[in-house]
Amino acid sequence: MLQDINRYNAANARQILEYFHAKRVLITGGFGFVGGHVARHLLDCGAEVTVLDIDTSPSRPSMMNCAQQGLRDQVRVVEADVTDKLAMQEVIEEGRFHYIFHFAAYASVIEKALTAPYDTIMANTIGWINVLEACRMTDHKPNMIFLSSTDKVYGEMDGDSYFEHITPLRGIGVYDSAKLAADVFSRTYHEAFGLPTVTLRMCNIYGPYDFNSAYRLLPKAMQSIYGGTEPVAPELYFDAIEHHRDYLYVDDLVNAIILLAHGNVCRGEVYNLAGGTYLSTPTMLRTIVELCAEVEGAYDETRAAQILRNGIAVRVSANASTVHAISKQHLNGEKLINDTGFQPGESFADALKATIRFYLDYFMASGAEAGHAQRLAG
Ligand SMILES: NC(=O)c1ccc[n+]([C@@H]2O[C@H](COP(=O)([O-])OP(=O)(O)OC[C@H]3O[C@@H](n4cnc5c(N)ncnc54)[C@H](O)[C@@H]3O)[C@@H](O)[C@H]2O)c1
Repeated sequence: MLQDINRYNAANARQILEYFHAKRVLITGGFGFVGGHVARHLLDCGAEVTVLDIDTSPSRPSMMNCAQQGLRDQVRVVEADVTDKLAMQEVIEEGRFHYIFHFAAYASVIEKALTAPYDTIMANTIGWINVLEACRMTDHKPNMIFLSSTDKVYGEMDGDSYFEHITPLRGIGVYDSAKLAADVFSRTYHEAFGLPTVTLRMCNIYGPYDFNSAYRLLPKAMQSIYGGTEPVAPELYFDAIEHHRDYLYVDDLVNAIILLAHGNVCRGEVYNLAGGTYLSTPTMLRTIVELCAEVEGAYDETRAAQILRNGIAVRVSANASTVHAISKQHLNGEKLINDTGFQPGESFADALKATIRFYLDYFMASGAEAGHAQRLAG
């Protein structure tokens, strides 16, 4: 862990580790992708971590349940719904937390939000309001209350990039507006009630242990390439051909969050999380395919050649007319760099290859693909 932090902020590395030592921390949505990584880093720092999620089932694919990581035994697990105001008040009152990291959300963006708009708004807006309200009511005020917001609050890009205090918030999709409302209330509760909120507008995050394979680009591609007996070409929706996104490795995100928690200047502020790699969706998918073939080549050259031959498959989305997807998203990250010294540490290709190796091992271990399992045995 010290090594991880050293890459980003050598001067503060030890101080940051000590900062979280024996601190009580609440992570909502901790059985999800990002929450799991944040929990692991904070445990490494010696924090006392409580993880709250609506689904804490031990059989759920989650970093928290991964035997190799052994996280579940080191945290206090609370099964609760962030939309339940009383439950959140009880958890926060009793927990006397020094830090709260709020990741709980309906986070699969467009498709899920369209089928369940009310639930999305409840989880993504009211869930955050309940955290803020509980913090307003308690006598034990946390040092920081962190909201994982999104670049989608800006809506369609007008110009080269989004800036925190210049670009208007024009998010219009259900997920986008629900996150936008939460994001705005961070500042309201800071201004009106002095709560130490920090809001981070995150770009697309990738890395190991993202099990949202039904919707998200990378886990979905991993499922296609490694999840069956034969590799299948990952799908690109036709309407996404012109899309551009920022992609950042999850360890970089975690370090940004830790720096924000550490910096008192950040309270009440909103930040863009930039510094990732800005790519069109087709380029990202082609890069994934090429790197999968490279990683696979070490085990099975025939299969590697097949992955390359398959390439990507362009499909027309069944519900294209109702889906509102932002075409270009690119964040300016100067404010975060100026206030925290944050710098991404991972090379894009190395981080993506590490992620791909994780999924290859995961599918091998879960026996999802007989050919892989045989290769492993042989
Ligand atoms: N992953 C990204 O690329 C990305 C980008 C921008 C913003 N974000 C935001 O970061 C946060 C974490 O994203 P993630 O990728 O880990 O998502 P995820 O879906 O993997 O995790 C979200 C977690 O929240 C839990 N949850 C959902 N509704 C809940 C409720 N009502 N009460 C309690 N728990 C509930 C889910 O069970 C899940 O474990 C989300 O708020 C998301 O909007 C993520």
